Amino acid sequence: MRHAVCIFYLVLRALDTLEDDMTISVEKKIPLLHNFHSFLYQPDWRFLESKEKDRQVLEDFPTYCHYVAGLVGIGLSRLFSASEFEDPLVGEDVECANSMGLFLQKTNIIRDFLEDQREGREFWPQEVWSKYVKKLGDFAKPENIDLAVQCLNELITNALHHIPDVITYLSRLRNQSVFNFCAIPQVMAIATLTACYNNQQVFKGVVKIRKGQAVTLMMDATNMPAVKAIIYQYMEEIYHRIPSSDPSSSKTREIISTIRTQNLPACQLISRSHYSPVYLSFVMLLAALSWQYLSTLSQVAEDYVQTGEH
Ligand SMILES: *[C@@H]1O[C@H](CO)[C@@H](O)[C@H](O)[C@H]1NC(C)=O
Repeated sequence: MRHAVCIFYLVLRALDTLEDDMTISVEKKIPLLHNFHSFLYQPDWRFLESKEKDRQVLEDFPTYCHYVAGLVGIGLSRLFSASEFEDPLVGEDVECANSMGLFLQKTNIIRDFLEDQREGREFWPQEVWSKYVKKLGDFAKPENIDLAVQCLNELITNALHHIPDVITYLSRLRNQSVFNFCAIPQVMAIATLTACYNNQQVFKGVVKIRKGQAVTLMMDATNMPAVKAIIYQYMEEIYHRIPSSDPSSSKTREIISTIRTQNLPACQLISRSHYSPVYLSFVMLLAALSWQYLSTLSQVAEDYVQTGEH
């Protein structure tokens, strides 16, 4: 499916570039978008009138997320079903597929606050941050760090609401390659959100999951019981770190309880001690030998997680 997926990404990427260009008037942009599919067949077609400047502010966050990330999830799901590698339901359940994309997108938007701020981009939704500060940029000021972390926790709590759909979606997959392709970015996103939760560092530098943690996730996230166990572990970690004084604390507890219940049936913690020493040393050897390869892979997975600017 490599070529189909590759072309799908390229077309979306090109469309996204045009759609994002704030220097093209709506009158000009709409016909360009409508006719875009025909330009693809004109090798010489160029658009040279862009004066794209560097400031981007979003007006409608949910709609934006749907177009840049939700549609990726929906399109990929239809490809999985159309190819008959997966059940028709995977392509038909637009809600679950949309959530797969939205969860990755929201995670990156949350994590990249500072980087986006420095590049003049603002992706955090105004209806949330305006409850805490007058300008989004105020979160970068040290005196506002407590408000910044409260807003961060609210956004993370919002993103966690996609996890039930993510679990439903992944539970339906039958093909191993498709499963790995879908599950790895999702567990990486859950690990990233956990690292960001209640963490001032989001406003001071970059929060990244450690390479070793990424390797472990990639090697483990190959079946549903393991993915459920990983999700369960991260949800426990967040739960224990909820500050009782946090304004979103009760909502955070509520969504984590919901995820726990959904996770319950097949969820037993995968304890490292259950692995035999021989298996363990094999894993470590493999990890050592494939370090380069996996670093590349983690970059690819990261890039996959990034749709458009994210
Ligand atoms: C799983 O899907 C991939 C394409 O993503 C395909 O190459 C492979 O043959 C499929 N495996 C099975 C067992 O059908």
